Amino acid sequence: MDLHQIDQFAKDIIYEAGKRIRNSFSYDLVVETKSDPNDLVTNIDRETELFFIEKIKEFDKNHRILGEEGMGEKIDSLEGPVWIIDPIDGTMNFVKQHRHFMITIGFYVDGVGKLGYIYDVMREDLFHAIAGEGAWYNDSPLRKLKPLSINEAVIGINASWIIPNRRVNHEKMIELVRTVRGTRSYGSAAMEIAFVVSGKLDAYISMRLSPWDIAGGIVIAKEVGAIATNFEGNQFSLLSNDTFIIANPSLHQIILNNYIEEK
Ligand code: IPD
Ligand code: CA
Ligand code: CA
Repeated sequence: MDLHQIDQFAKDIIYEAGKRIRNSFSYDLVVETKSDPNDLVTNIDRETELFFIEKIKEFDKNHRILGEEGMGEKIDSLEGPVWIIDPIDGTMNFVKQHRHFMITIGFYVDGVGKLGYIYDVMREDLFHAIAGEGAWYNDSPLRKLKPLSINEAVIGINASWIIPNRRVNHEKMIELVRTVRGTRSYGSAAMEIAFVVSGKLDAYISMRLSPWDIAGGIVIAKEVGAIATNFEGNQFSLLSNDTFIIANPSLHQIILNNYIEEK
């Protein structure tokens, strides 16, 4: 398998999909809800996923695709080459702000991450990695993350975890917010992961993400030394939802041990 050839192909289809999405603002978006009234999907999410599936099947019909919108095969194992795709991460931003949304894709072989992509569609900025070879922000190599103290950290966190909730002890979360230098919330898990791997954030935590939110990002994380796990400190399950933390290596354990208490 020629990873460089697959990498070039992946970049080509991501750029092409980005162009199609940017053009989509010139016609009406159809917005629907999924699991709850705040879980949005549009015709463009679906069309983009379908575009990727068609292109990948043309490239190699034996590659399988796990996509958020469920338009690929039903996947219950990661055997062989598998693409894990979120056609638009940050759909609420897409609908409301027309910016701050990502295409994110991971390419795995037998469950091992080989290629990872996070593409900011409106800025036309690509974060990507080839396992074992490095990670890039557009054409510039991303550096290994440098250690820092928790008081210097700027972290990505959603405000809903700071109020009483059924997943984590929010008092501990408040303590974390008090301890760090600052917090940010961008509304796209992939964007927050892209910021952690490029040192613009020092950690990002979420109580519940899906494989497609993080599959591309964790390939990039490995190349820069960021640590990405679930709250048990284990590998995120790529076949189901899970808790998620990605952090600078000097902070990962500190945050998990001192500030996260699951209910
Ligand atoms: C969502 C975004 C959001 C995160 C949610 C995800 P979507 O993805 O990444 O930031 O908090 O958990 O589901 O639905 O916009 O692809
Ligand atoms: Ca998503
Ligand atoms: Ca999505």
